[in-house]
Amino acid sequence: MAEDGRKTLVLTGASRGIGHAAVRKFSAEGWRVLTLSRQPFDDNCPWPEGAANHVQVDLADADSLGMAVADIRDRLEEEGGKLHALVNNAGISPKLNGGKRPNSIDTPMQVWRQVFQVNFFAPILLARALLDELKEAQGSIVNITSIAGGRVHPFAGSAYATSKAALASLTREMAADFGPHGIRVNGVAPGEIETSILSPGTEDMIEDIPLGRLGNTMEVADTIFYLCSDKASYVNGAEIHVNGGQHV
Ligand SMILES: NC(=O)c1ccc[n+]([C@@H]2O[C@H](COP(=O)([O-])OP(=O)(O)OC[C@H]3O[C@@H](n4cnc5c(N)ncnc54)[C@H](OP(=O)(O)O)[C@@H]3O)[C@@H](O)[C@H]2O)c1
Repeated sequence: MAEDGRKTLVLTGASRGIGHAAVRKFSAEGWRVLTLSRQPFDDNCPWPEGAANHVQVDLADADSLGMAVADIRDRLEEEGGKLHALVNNAGISPKLNGGKRPNSIDTPMQVWRQVFQVNFFAPILLARALLDELKEAQGSIVNITSIAGGRVHPFAGSAYATSKAALASLTREMAADFGPHGIRVNGVAPGEIETSILSPGTEDMIEDIPLGRLGNTMEVADTIFYLCSDKASYVNGAEIHVNGGQHV
């Protein structure tokens, strides 16, 4: 733990949606949260030390990511070089004009590459770069996958779906490789959660969700927190579905 007994989380995609809920959850539980997103820190955010703990980064840009890693490692030095959790939450799901899903025939290749950079390569680059700090704390990693990684989804495009399927596979690979270092690696696969990433028409999917409603961001944040807590000390290589039973 940090000098003052606090645990530290590095969280990507912290500025809205599920990431924003995770900041609220971990902060309420007393963690220091280093937040990463493309936007500068929003002064309207109420949590203390928020501005001091924010790292502005474009995960699609290798140079920006490299600079962010150096910055994060410096900031972790202040806490004894320990990182208790890395949550790879940032994700993009590009749409065609008019909101249509880009499929495997019409997705422009540069879009496909950009999606993989943010949704798939950034998580493993961050995890490798922060391995020593995670090892020092015997910490854990949570990768945010998606229900779209396991089935064709009416609104998620092919690049997004394949990046999430790859991330689920990467989670298993990482559980095998990071586990011997004392670092647990798990995934959380949300279904239809009320955030800005959802497309118009998502409400029509509710009839296929056994619990009969969309999920909320705190329900995902609570699951992420569980996986990063000591309560999940023997959970490694799991992917928890948070989707009201939509996958069954
Ligand atoms: N909502 C759902 O129903 C749902 C379902 C399945 C899976 N998921 C997954 O859950 C995660 C969070 O989803 P969400 O709905 O909360 O998404 P969201 O509301 O669209 O937020 C996405 C976050 O990612 C950040 N981000 C995007 N591109 C980035 C980049 N290039 N560099 C750095 N940060 C970037 C955004 O911050 P900036 O714009 O400030 O950069 C934002 O904080 C994603 O991985 C998503 O695929 C969501």
